[in-house]
Amino acid sequence: MAGQTTKCVLVCGGAGYIGSHTCTALAERGHRIVIADNFANSSPRVLLRLQRIVGAPVECERLDLRSKSAVTRLFKRHRFDAVIHFAALKAVGESFERPLAYFDNNISGTINLLGSMHDAGVMRLVFSSSATVYGDPESVPINEQARLGVTNPYGRTKLVMEQLIEDLCHADGCFRAANLRYFNPVGAHPSGLIGEDPAGIPNNVMPYICQVAAGRRGKLSIFGDDYPTPDGTGVRDYIHVMDLARAHVVALDYLVRGDGNLTVNLGTGRGISVLELVHAFERASGCSIPYEIVARRRGDVAEVYADPSLARRLLGWRTRLDLHAMCRDAWRWQSMNPDGYQRPTAKTKSSPLASRKTMT
Ligand code: NAD
Ligand code: WQD
Repeated sequence: MAGQTTKCVLVCGGAGYIGSHTCTALAERGHRIVIADNFANSSPRVLLRLQRIVGAPVECERLDLRSKSAVTRLFKRHRFDAVIHFAALKAVGESFERPLAYFDNNISGTINLLGSMHDAGVMRLVFSSSATVYGDPESVPINEQARLGVTNPYGRTKLVMEQLIEDLCHADGCFRAANLRYFNPVGAHPSGLIGEDPAGIPNNVMPYICQVAAGRRGKLSIFGDDYPTPDGTGVRDYIHVMDLARAHVVALDYLVRGDGNLTVNLGTGRGISVLELVHAFERASGCSIPYEIVARRRGDVAEVYADPSLARRLLGWRTRLDLHAMCRDAWRWQSMNPDGYQRPTAKTKSSPLASRKTMT
């Protein structure tokens, strides 16, 4: 982009869902990217898809951030200007069963990364945090001043990582960080070449709906219809992953300009219930989504949505893509790739898609 500096950006966890979409936005902005990923929750096939989207090979180093020596070597091989840190384990349920694995992966990995950044004089960090740090909020919409309080070990790792980064900013006035608290990212790149591809049974509602639409699962279980919300189902702030990707690019620009540190919510500011989401998906995809109401899920809260006004004020960022676009793009990705990254795109073979009505 004319007049704007381009940077070499290390994208830790860049092969994952949000990281891969952010890579497309970084490349579009003209930044050079190097992905570091151990593919614990992603596929190397993402790299070829990214190459098709950005029109050039994408550099990637396969490494585990828990290996201090591997991270040190990475910083010796490249001269990075900034880091975006997506690499983490993120499954709430699993984090109750394997808390040590979550602390080891998320926190040890972050300590190694921050240590190498510091040693190499790389002083700009964009960090993937989460609305999970607000726990069960006292009120909605949630602004950044809301009380922090986690309800699961995964959330605790995010809070500890935020605090580690904050302490480093205090200890070294040259170190700058943007702490981005995402609400519920959904959707996919408009090409349909990359998207969310969870391993096993999806924990999150949107990929579950997509797999029902694709015939991989029989019906959606809706976890409770007795919440104090307009239709009784849980309310969340779904945000299109491409809007989220763009927020990383503007947050990086903010850090490069030297405007200071930043903690912001990234959401639309609009709460959507599970039933509203199901109906919006049906309209966007032309598929019917069978569902049944089951018991509430442990740890779920009634309503979570953002006050995103601080991000707007500080970054000039706001969401552009609505619920229809989120559903349409999630479905484009799923219908072109019924088995995720496991097989070639569905355009080249007969598709097992079920219960398809019409595309809008
Ligand atoms: P993802 O699992 O798709 O991506 C994470 C990537 O990091 C994966 O490619 C994984 O292989 C890699 N990784 C994990 N541990 C690693 C390690 N030790 N070394 C190297 N690579 C490692 O997850 P995502 O949905 O893209 O989430 C990205 C980030 O955003 C995570 O930090 C997550 O906590 C945060 N976040 C996600 C959501 C969401 O709903 N998806 C919401 C809020 C915050
Ligand atoms: C959304 C709504 C469910 C699945 C999680 C993490 C959070 C963040 C984003 C990382 C809720 C309902 C779900 C299903 C359903 N991740 N639901 N049937 O729980 O808001 O947030 O992902 O930081 O930390 O907790 O997202 O997509 O799981 O649920 O009825 O099969 O859909 O009860 O109301 P959640 P979700």
